[in-house]
Amino acid sequence: MAGLFVTFEGGEGSGKSTQLARLAARLRARGLEPLVTREPGGTPLAEGIRDLLLDPARRPGAVSEALLMEAARAELVATLVRPALAAGRVVLCDRYDDSTLAYQGAGRGLDPGLLAILNQAATGGLEPDLTLLYDVPPEVGLARRESAAGETNRLDREPADFHLRVRRCFLDLAAAGPERWVVLDATATPDELERLGWAALEERLAGAGR
Ligand code: TYD
Repeated sequence: MAGLFVTFEGGEGSGKSTQLARLAARLRARGLEPLVTREPGGTPLAEGIRDLLLDPARRPGAVSEALLMEAARAELVATLVRPALAAGRVVLCDRYDDSTLAYQGAGRGLDPGLLAILNQAATGGLEPDLTLLYDVPPEVGLARRESAAGETNRLDREPADFHLRVRRCFLDLAAAGPERWVVLDATATPDELERLGWAALEERLAGAGR
């Protein structure tokens, strides 16, 4: 049976990681064993790169930042995601290559054409079957982050217009790819978001014969 690759995207403090955990629990209740992972990270090597990337004490240039994201991605895709999909599993990934287009592209100003080539190199062209976008105004997301003590990382600390460009980019990507993307209003309650996310996921599961 074919696997199903689902990615979770959104700005800071959108609540997507909580939602990912809730949808994973629903899959388990159905007797499925999803692979739950995240970017950057997910393997020992990629988690090491994550520590470098999110450390507020470090200041990589935009290109270095992008290449480190891609190195972590290549590792995750080759060693965890592809084998899980080949084994017919559902994969839930907290962020994927669209985050590079949004953060390093729209946010940092790197050329989207270059980033598309790097994404292709890292993923071998592996695209999600479904991408859930947890859309939230940056001021709402960042305020949530700040109220959760100690959770801000290096990228959370970028200025407001950076986060506005990131949000715009995700919405543009979603508008350009409606067959893959489902946009959810992340100002909704966690229970409502779970209901909407599950509806989208269930539809794809049914399409994949589950
Ligand atoms: P994390 O604390 O996991 O944030 P979030 O809960 O918002 O996902 O940190 C991941 C950070 O890495 C986040 O600020 C977005 C950033 N990022 C990029 O800049 N480019 C990428 O390609 C990826 C995958 C993440």
